Amino acid sequence: MSIRHFGLALLLVPALQAQVTTTTLHDALLAARADRAGEPAVAAAFQQLAKEHGTPLYIYDQRYIQGQAAALRSAFAPRFPKLRILYALKANTNPAVIGLLRAEGIGAEVVSQGEIETALKVGYQGTEIMFTSSSKNPAEIRRAIELGTVLNVDSMDELGQVQAEARRQLKQARISFRVNPGVDPHTIHQINTGIAESKFGLHLQGGLAFKAYAAAKAMPEIRIEGVHCHIGSQITETEGYTLTATKMMTFVKELKEKLGLKLDFVDLGGGLGIPYTDGQTLMSPEDLAKALEPVWKAGVATLGYEPTLWLEPGRFFVGGSGFLLTRVNTVKETPIKTFVNVDAGFNTLMRPVMYQAYHRVRVIGRTQDVQKVDIAGDVCETGDILAEARLLPKAKAGDLVVILDAGAYGFSMASEYNARPLPEEVLVDGDAVRVIRRRADFPELFRTATSAK
Ligand code: LLP
Repeated sequence: MSIRHFGLALLLVPALQAQVTTTTLHDALLAARADRAGEPAVAAAFQQLAKEHGTPLYIYDQRYIQGQAAALRSAFAPRFPKLRILYALKANTNPAVIGLLRAEGIGAEVVSQGEIETALKVGYQGTEIMFTSSSKNPAEIRRAIELGTVLNVDSMDELGQVQAEARRQLKQARISFRVNPGVDPHTIHQINTGIAESKFGLHLQGGLAFKAYAAAKAMPEIRIEGVHCHIGSQITETEGYTLTATKMMTFVKELKEKLGLKLDFVDLGGGLGIPYTDGQTLMSPEDLAKALEPVWKAGVATLGYEPTLWLEPGRFFVGGSGFLLTRVNTVKETPIKTFVNVDAGFNTLMRPVMYQAYHRVRVIGRTQDVQKVDIAGDVCETGDILAEARLLPKAKAGDLVVILDAGAYGFSMASEYNARPLPEEVLVDGDAVRVIRRRADFPELFRTATSAK
């Protein structure tokens, strides 16, 4: 890992001083977000990054990530004395990013053995990890039990497998069950996980979740620690959470009354949305904490004990921290529209194509001749459009374009499709730039192909 400092001189060259309000690279990132990417000082910062690191390049703003962690904590900690916050690694699996959140006292929620191994590498103990997946393979179950990780069990079939493996290891497996509360949080269909027809969790409906707890209670190899749910992602309003919390607390009470179970934790999942458009207002952590507080307190009062509230956001911590910097290869005018063809595609950022997700785009260093364009990717597929019908200052070949809010589910969903090596990732701290994943090179494309000579 290398650390580079951008001298202030870069941003304060005399000719530019009139426009300069930017002092650090961090400020340049903020300025791009605030639609000031056309300013020379801001442009100079991005041009320098592209020169040093190439494109496409993922840039993450360390202060943003730390700020989000602080915002979540300060909204929830005063209202929920028993609180544990985890980070859903899948949003951004770079060890440096995970390490920042670990340093903030945040735990790890993982979905695969790869994420378990990454969390361990970053310094988490196995016992600090929560392992959620609706489809865990035998090796993953074995590893999680060995490490004392909490397995978030998703089916009766899985419960049986966990029991058998724990018996084989002469250990008790720590578990919670993922419950499907049947709540619609009103988000994009593909990431709507709590509704009854989703593949996730044991339904409260029909008593399925209750039966799972009753069965687990009778198993000496199983230690029941909590209950979990996650109703979806990019949630922008509080209602889905409050309804879910009410259902969960009612269920926890039923477990106490009918099975005598006292749970250590109730995990309400992640899913906190972030703004993806200019001027978008949505639920803040403060709004969510305020809305949940009365529901939680009423639940605790009827329950007679207070479980720890667990939360496990991913996107909220890292989404807005990320900027995907890409370079214009060509501009093409057709009888129908104008395409700005860039050197990133859905192999680099999958979200626009997979979910029709909107990401803001800024053209670096240009302010004139606004025109309607499609930002088209470099993947050989018609659908590879990163941004459609955007009014943007006219860009030319060689210009830089930055795509905002690419810190969550950006690199972590990237692929080598079309044999394009994975991009570089850098972390910006004030004026310092740290390479946290170097650009892959061509030999790495066939490193595991045994037939390549
Ligand atoms: N916990 C569980 C069990 C999850 O399945 C997820 C995300 C999270 C926590 C974190 O959710 P978040 O706070 O990040 O919304 N690739 C999609 C999002 C998929 C989310 C999958 N599960 C996207 O790019 O929008």
